[in-house]
Amino acid sequence: MRILLVTHSFNGLCQRLFCELTALGHEVSIEFDIADSVTEEAVRLFQPELIVAPFLKRAITEAIWSRHTCLIVHPGIVGDRGPSALDWAIRNALGEWGVTVLQAEAEMDAGPVWAAATFPLRAARKASIYRHEVTEAAVRAVTAAVNRQFEPNFKPERVPGEAHATMRQSDRGIDWQHDDSATVLAKLNAADGFPGVADVLFGEPCHLFDAWPEAIFKGAPGSLLGHRETAICRATADGAVWIGHVKAAGGIKLPTTLAFPAAAELPELALAGYWKSPTPTWQDIAYEEAAGVGFLSFEFYNGAMSTSQCRRLTEAFAWAATRPTKVIVLRGGSDFWSNGIHLNTIEAAESPADESWANINAIDDLAEAILRCERQLTVAAVGGNAGAGGCFLARATDFVWVRDGVMLNPHYKNMGNLYGSEFWTYLLPPRVGAAGAETIMRHRLPMTAAEAVKLGFYDARLPGPGFTVDVARRAAELAAAPDIDAQLAAKRAKRAADEAVKPLSAYRDEELKEMRRNFYGFDPSYHVARYHFVSRSAHSWTPRHLARHRDLDWKTPE
Ligand code: COA
Repeated sequence: MRILLVTHSFNGLCQRLFCELTALGHEVSIEFDIADSVTEEAVRLFQPELIVAPFLKRAITEAIWSRHTCLIVHPGIVGDRGPSALDWAIRNALGEWGVTVLQAEAEMDAGPVWAAATFPLRAARKASIYRHEVTEAAVRAVTAAVNRQFEPNFKPERVPGEAHATMRQSDRGIDWQHDDSATVLAKLNAADGFPGVADVLFGEPCHLFDAWPEAIFKGAPGSLLGHRETAICRATADGAVWIGHVKAAGGIKLPTTLAFPAAAELPELALAGYWKSPTPTWQDIAYEEAAGVGFLSFEFYNGAMSTSQCRRLTEAFAWAATRPTKVIVLRGGSDFWSNGIHLNTIEAAESPADESWANINAIDDLAEAILRCERQLTVAAVGGNAGAGGCFLARATDFVWVRDGVMLNPHYKNMGNLYGSEFWTYLLPPRVGAAGAETIMRHRLPMTAAEAVKLGFYDARLPGPGFTVDVARRAAELAAAPDIDAQLAAKRAKRAADEAVKPLSAYRDEELKEMRRNFYGFDPSYHVARYHFVSRSAHSWTPRHLARHRDLDWKTPE
């Protein structure tokens, strides 16, 4: 079928549906929901047999839904209606939630139901539930709904429903004197990553994000107890929580201590070392060990890796490499493995060009430390999505195991034509060939785990459920392999041979020469693209690589 995806943006869920529907043999094109007349034009050009709306912020115009079947993906159970579906479900700590695919009509979310899927609702952030459970359920429900287009006897059912109110800041507000930690966390989780909870810190209005529990510290409710790295700890009625990110009025989302330098004057509540804390607390870099394997997690908000995060992680990796292990698994974070350099901290710097330079050097130092690791085999366990430099950083390990369902965006082009670094010029050609490397770098579309493995870019794809357990088992097997020492010797020999042909420093210098031009040269594309990205600017057109119906050689079907 010819399927048009009409969407507010090409977000992770939309990317996944695009890949799944394309893999099923459908012809898929995308149009951003910018204006009714623009969508109508897209429909005229593409002549879709079906329209699917994975992520909309407003209703589809009657001119379209009255003439075409339009399926809306609603992140709520059957009968649920309204725009704050997930927010209320998380806030009310419901045990189960779901996704419904319904037909667009005049009343929002009230049309007949084509398919639905449910899932147990974790106590987690809205964005995390959206990226994992909602996305998986949406794939199941949309696939079922699309298949039902071919069932002549299928009649979508109209179900009674109830619209809940939009969740407003007055519903979200935290009462620091009376709310206990569980309530504060539920309120913050229901608002993360958008719109956050409006509050006041250091006398300034701001929105709070990125909450972490704290099990030990306590203090006068509402008081600020201290800081650790970039987060601050605030007392609740019965304990405390950590706030990792804030968005000051008129600003962009930033690590809390960067947005509020006064936080540095709070007492420092440092953690000793990298071992995972036995009690809940803020710990972005955590290490665990089992069966000869070291597991290094880096739970960096949104997968963005600032200069200081890269440096701290490089130190942690260097420390992990001194442990008596045979394998180090780099786990990344639960939602993202890595999305490369931190565009928000760069934007906030006095000189974004200098900060970009520092950040790319810091992430290259990390990649180099991984590449030069001699005593262990290294594994990237990519359980969360990865983008840009994050995809290539993962490739710096000896083995990349990726969870089925993960969305990869291994390209830099969308960020103002960045050349990219992280040793991609060294890492890619032996695995995918010179032409393959060029194709990957030119490609602007997302890549599935299956595609990455088929190309030879990554090494193995593991099923979604049980990924963490599977990774631990495979890593333990690797560590216990009878030939592990021979494998390590071969790794050292290969690195030495490669170094003799062309040193890593030469690859790095060549890549960074191009990046220097991106950061400091005449063409401001990267700075403009970054500004729009961090400001979450609304799209004013759909990029050509997504809107196939706008290709110059597109022929509108009869
Ligand atoms: N730096 C800072 N923030 C980043 C980031 C980065 N490198 N990558 C993603 N984010 C943030 C987004 O701003 C967004 O923030 P929000 O909490 O305000 O919503 C959040 O992460 C999710 O990103 P989003 O773009 O909505 O997710 P997606 O699943 O639709 O797309 C990517 C994923 C990776 C394709 C997209 O985020 C991207 O292009 N990131 C930039 C990658 C990049 O160019 N890195 C620099 C070069 S190495």
